[in-house]
Parts: sequence; structure tokens; C-alpha cells
Amino acid sequence: MGQAEIERWEQRYQTSTYVFGKEPNAFLRRAASCLPAASRVLAVADGEGRNGVWLAAQGHQVCAVEASLAAQDKARRLAAEQGVELQLITADLFTWEWPRAAFDAVAAIFIQFATPPQRAYLFAAMKEALRPGGYLLLQGYGLAQLQHRTGGPSQPEQLYTVELLRDAFADFELIELREYEAEIEEGPGHAGKSALIDVVARRPLSR
Ligand SMILES: C[S@@+](CC[C@H](N)C(=O)[O-])C[C@H]1O[C@@H](n2cnc3c(N)ncnc32)[C@H](O)[C@@H]1O
Repeated sequence: MGQAEIERWEQRYQTSTYVFGKEPNAFLRRAASCLPAASRVLAVADGEGRNGVWLAAQGHQVCAVEASLAAQDKARRLAAEQGVELQLITADLFTWEWPRAAFDAVAAIFIQFATPPQRAYLFAAMKEALRPGGYLLLQGYGLAQLQHRTGGPSQPEQLYTVELLRDAFADFELIELREYEAEIEEGPGHAGKSALIDVVARRPLSR
């Protein structure tokens, strides 16, 4: 299913429109204020670059990894438009050799292409990619999103619950875990009333 899912995204990005817009995700914009200056940030499945480019514009050293070539072409153009530099890696996150203890932060915004076993793999890799004391910034859709149909997968098992995320990050310091509804306008891909869950978690200094 991994390759078919990547191909689906490749097709979806074959448009000059930025499917998720050019502005950063609102949660990320707020949550990134906890990051020290010039943090090394891994932007996971960064798509067309709205989040990685914004983080780079804040002075962070960003590595954006994403499977779709079409999306990364757009990310490259967005970075050039805004006069910022970031490292763009085209890779399948399920075969990529994840760096370990290498980043001050990992940003994972709407990475719900993952089935439950794939999600467990990604979460473990994201945790290991952080240095001790590093921050995980994650936003995704909650189960209630199935009623809204304003973005995200239609498979309930790919959506988040507070319990699932509390469990997944039980070995981290949970700074924020918040479920709420909000109107979002993130290009044509995410538009309208949405059920969201935010996580800010910190890798313990002792690990
Ligand atoms: C909902 S989009 C979110 C993009 C970006 N994080 C944002 O918020 O604008 C999900 C992204 O996951 C990417 N993706 C799906 N499967 C992937 C995989 N196996 N490895 C890397 N990226 C993948 C897709 O290409 C797509 O860009």
C-alpha cells in the first residue's frame, strides 16, 4: 500500500495550486515559539513546503523529507520565492534511514497517510530522531473529523484520539495535548470546520 499511497499523492500534487496553501499551519506557527533559535528541525512528510519554508524563514535549520517529487518541486519554488534555504530530501519514510538523536525538533503536521502499524513505526522513528530534550510538534485530525469531511483520510483507524496519542507519547513529557474544533483554511485540501488534535511533547533529557 505504501507505493500506491505515494502515487496517489503524486497525482494530487499535479496542479499549479498549492493543495494545502502557502501559509504555515496555525498550530505550528504557535507551537514553534518554544524552539530555541536556529534549531535543527525535521519536517516530516512536508508536502509542498508551507511548514518547512516557514520554519526556515524563522531562522531554523530545516530538513524536509517527503515522498512526492511534485510536492518537493513546489517546496523548492516556495523557498526561492521567500528567499530561504532548507534541505529537501525525497524519500519514502518507511524505507528512509532516519537520523537518530539529530534534531532539536520534529514537526509532523497531518501525517495521517499511515495505517496503525505504519503509524507506530513513524512515531518510533520520530522519537528516536530527536535529541534528548528535543520537541515533537504534531497536529492531526481527530475521529470526529469523519463528520466534517473537510480534509483528511476517511479511514477511522488513521485518525487520532487523545487516548491514542497519550499512550504513544507516554515516555515523553507531554506539554500539550488538546482536542478541539476550528475553522481552517489551508488551501483546497483542508478547508472548513475541522476536528483537530495538537501535541507538543519533549523527549526526556535522560533518554
Ligand atoms: C496531508 S499531506 C500533508 C503535507 C504537509 N505536512 C502539510 O501539512 O502541508 C500528507 C503528506 O504525506 C506525504 N506522504 C505520504 N506517504 C508518504 C511516505 N511513505 N513517505 C513520505 N511522505 C509521504 C504525501 O506525499 C503528502 O505530502
